[in-house]
Amino acid sequence: MKLLVVNGPNLNLLGLREPEIYGRQDYAALLDFLARCGEEAGAEVDCFQSNHEGAIVDAIQAAWGKYDGIVINPAAYTHTSVAILDALKAVALPAVEVHLSDVSRRESFRQVSYAGMACLRTYMGLGFEGYRQAILFLKEYLEGRETPPDR
Ligand code: DQA
Repeated sequence: MKLLVVNGPNLNLLGLREPEIYGRQDYAALLDFLARCGEEAGAEVDCFQSNHEGAIVDAIQAAWGKYDGIVINPAAYTHTSVAILDALKAVALPAVEVHLSDVSRRESFRQVSYAGMACLRTYMGLGFEGYRQAILFLKEYLEGRETPPDR
């Protein structure tokens, strides 16, 4: 089982950016964490990060035929990008949305998630653990042991 983890803009600055919201661990620590999650799930996990919307669309398109599922934190593009939503719908791979912070308790402009409309589930406000939950959910889902709730 191969999973692609996609991280959007400014997540490369984890640790530096608003640590009171996003935590003190940096992006390299997230990559380490994701590698361990992959081992735990028995899945091959590749990671991609970009600050550019089109590059994220390209990565999602390139995932088709290569990956079994996508974990995505589109960061700020969550709330603006119909292009990322359309890319997720186009490849139709099982996808799960992650946010480090609990966006439901933040500014009103963060209350819309376009990407989330193409995702089976969303984990938010759990920090790095949200990615772990997303990977474990996708593993169960792909093995046919988990069904998504209605959303
Ligand atoms: C975020 C939440 C977004 O609203 C924000 O723009 C981010 C990170 C999160 O992980 O909590 O960059 O996706």
